[in-house]
Amino acid sequence: MAAVDQLEAGGRPDPDREWWRTAVVYQVVLRAFADGDGDGLGDVAGLRSRLPYLADLGVDAVWVNPWYASPMVDAGYDVTDYRALDPRYGTLEDAEALVREAHALGMRVLLDVVPNHTSDQHAWFRAALAGDEAARARYLFRPGRGERGEEPPNDWESCFRGPAWTRTTGSDGEPGDWYLHMFAPEQPDLDWSNREVHDEMLDVLRFWFDRGVDGFRVDVAHGLVKAPGLPDAEGKDRRTQEHPGWDQDGVHEVYREWRALADAYDPPRVFVAEAWAARRAERLPLYLRPDELHTAFEFEPLHVAWRARPWRDVVDRSLALAEVSGAPCAWVLTNHDVVRQATRYARSQWAEKGTNETERARWPTEEPDLALGLRRARAAAVLVAALPGVLYLYLGEELGLHEVEDIPADRRTDPIFVRSGGTDPGRDGSRVPLPWSGDVPPFGFSPDRRPDGSPPAEPYLPQPARWAALTAQAQDGDPSSTLSLYRRLLALRREHLVPAGGLRWLDAPDDVLALAREGSPVQCWVNLGADPVALPAGGRVLVASAPVVDGSLPGDAGAWVLAG
Ligand code: GLC
Repeated sequence: MAAVDQLEAGGRPDPDREWWRTAVVYQVVLRAFADGDGDGLGDVAGLRSRLPYLADLGVDAVWVNPWYASPMVDAGYDVTDYRALDPRYGTLEDAEALVREAHALGMRVLLDVVPNHTSDQHAWFRAALAGDEAARARYLFRPGRGERGEEPPNDWESCFRGPAWTRTTGSDGEPGDWYLHMFAPEQPDLDWSNREVHDEMLDVLRFWFDRGVDGFRVDVAHGLVKAPGLPDAEGKDRRTQEHPGWDQDGVHEVYREWRALADAYDPPRVFVAEAWAARRAERLPLYLRPDELHTAFEFEPLHVAWRARPWRDVVDRSLALAEVSGAPCAWVLTNHDVVRQATRYARSQWAEKGTNETERARWPTEEPDLALGLRRARAAAVLVAALPGVLYLYLGEELGLHEVEDIPADRRTDPIFVRSGGTDPGRDGSRVPLPWSGDVPPFGFSPDRRPDGSPPAEPYLPQPARWAALTAQAQDGDPSSTLSLYRRLLALRREHLVPAGGLRWLDAPDDVLALAREGSPVQCWVNLGADPVALPAGGRVLVASAPVVDGSLPGDAGAWVLAG
């Protein structure tokens, strides 16, 4: 039914309703994007003031990380009120103005919904701790094991290290039950076998849809429902093995209800899932059935080595999944949870792929070659922009920013840093406030003055001095800049590749990926090796990540060529 609705008279997909199949979506970590009021933390006012920059860049939609009221233990993924903005970010009126202004510029707005857990400061959890039985039944409280309940109810580990359980203290001051938290202790998991939880989250979606929001990124979409009885994981790694805490069949009921709600709006609202499944090939398409979520991120590019064969395998696997599910691939080179690509590519490359942990563990022992990393990151952009499907960009990648590795310990905010006892620096290095203009920090991130005339506070994380050369202002108008490369890629993508069809690999040397898209004369050539390769004779280079001289594509570079 929905599919029929989406066809225009004449049987063609309606591009306005099907925008989510080919869009470029820009991810905004609000606190790191632009600060409107001078408190050193980005906010909605800052984002509104920079919407024209995003429209110029050529994005179709903006995804805003959680902006809800929050103690910010996990950068806002710990929500106390899903219907209010955190006052540090703005007001509901600001949010509504943002949606209106983005729409006026032709951009959609996606929010981030966090349905797996609330903050421990949420009214529900506080009531639960105070002994309200109905509130307790919305979370996963269990008695401990051992004679006096001193052992956690099962052996699950939190994604942020340590046990996934924290013991409560009863009103009598004695140790009481434990509660489950797959992330930090300040993020208690909700119990999705409780109908009240479903109704509340549906109402939250409705609240924002009614305000014109175009859709949601679903945080931890595979985590909501746990295996009945919460059995031990027996050492299973949640990423590679079927773990009873994740990816349970019951979760699909949730998404069927969400989809029905989204489809009831005009235009229909959309979802993108953050879903990790151990058996991805079999399990991921289930989330993407026509009556469930529209898209799910392709996470393999976040960790794949800068090597032709593994990259090609990643693309093939993702396209095969898309074939099964009918949902477009949602490509993503980086996000707020991983090390930036210009840094991942700046050190020796893994045989196939790394992980966040292996990547960050080598910071102290292997010097990065930042120039090489950026060169490769630019070539990677040339590659992903040519792939069929949706493309997610992460704030600052269009400026060629590297991960900031040297944030002082006392400025780090990520629970991963704290819970690892400081052994893992965590994710702050990808969330440093953007450099907009000028030669010294805060590089235009904050205004010159606060509303009361006083100077702005320092940015919430320190910006490296070398970013002076990378401000949006410094790159604007420089045809060789990364910003110019991204603008050109997005404009050409819209013109030549959005209307194009499936992907076909072209013959190319071992270290090179060359592809074309059905119905388009554009070829994408990316050289992941060090030696130059010849581009097709007679072709016209439309865009390149490094200078192409005499038809030769240098190492670690990519180009789009109009076949001659
Ligand atoms: C998701 C978010 C991550 C957050 C976690 C807990 O994985 O992307 O940033 O820490 O969920 O909400």
